[in-house]
Amino acid sequence: MPPSLRFLLLLLVAGSGGATAAAFELEEATIDSIHRAFAAGELTSRGLVELYLRRIASLNPALHAVIELDPDGALAAADRADAAARSSSSALPPLHGIPVLLKDNIAAAGPLNATVGSLAMVGSRPAGDAGVVERLRSAGAVLLGTASLSEWCNFRGPGIPAGWSPRGGQGKVRPLPCLISWFPGSSNSKLVSCSPWNQMLQCNAMAIDFGLPMQNPYVPSATPCSSSSGSAIAAATNMAAVTIGTETDGSIMCPSSFNSVVGIKPTVGLTSRAGVIIISPRMDTVG
Ligand SMILES: *[C@@H]1O[C@H](CO)[C@@H](O)[C@H](O)[C@H]1NC(C)=O
Repeated sequence: MPPSLRFLLLLLVAGSGGATAAAFELEEATIDSIHRAFAAGELTSRGLVELYLRRIASLNPALHAVIELDPDGALAAADRADAAARSSSSALPPLHGIPVLLKDNIAAAGPLNATVGSLAMVGSRPAGDAGVVERLRSAGAVLLGTASLSEWCNFRGPGIPAGWSPRGGQGKVRPLPCLISWFPGSSNSKLVSCSPWNQMLQCNAMAIDFGLPMQNPYVPSATPCSSSSGSAIAAATNMAAVTIGTETDGSIMCPSSFNSVVGIKPTVGLTSRAGVIIISPRMDTVG
């Protein structure tokens, strides 16, 4: 895999192609299985975008993994990819015709707003592409829309209702005693000495502080973890072939593990943060 692809959050495993777009098996489709279906004439990029849009329409009301979609832009980009495949005899780019969701803190020129889940940012249409979006587009990717997250990537402040991103929706949270072990040595480690009941209450308060959003698609009463929660849920439920998240401290790895998908957190500095609303220039990475 070329280095330019290493920031992709998720490459799903295994998949198979059907005879037509309608029969194409979207569940667990990989970039490779999609490209094989394109090459075999069983699927077009437009057909694939339509499949993902239908899937998002059916699942997103329950899962709140997607904030905005750009169906017209995605279909136009897919048509350009399909036309390029018909007219070109040379090798196609590595993400040729592949639909991608971007976390809502990543700028893309066009109709998609980058709002970090916040109403304060509604209407914030970026003037240009983030560095990673430029790379995605030149690798042939089709931008489908934005993935939900914890508002301001968990950095709005303490006491935010659990799962609350005003633009992404309200979700559920379960007691999370395991949070204690995430922050050894921090001021929160005092919780270990509390009674189990007290501990659970305080851990719930911590979960609220950390803005854990939405529902886990496998266990709807459980947390998906955050803050790139929408990117992980969308990957787990096949709402896009590839999703992009960002991490300051656990925001790719935790939702990936809680949603049973592979997340790649590139070394800080290996992926561009230009055009990305981040928390810490010393810690944040796009993956
Ligand atoms: C971006 O925000 C504007 C202003 O709220 C809205 O009209 C537009 O539909 C949004 N774009 C998308 C793709 O949803």
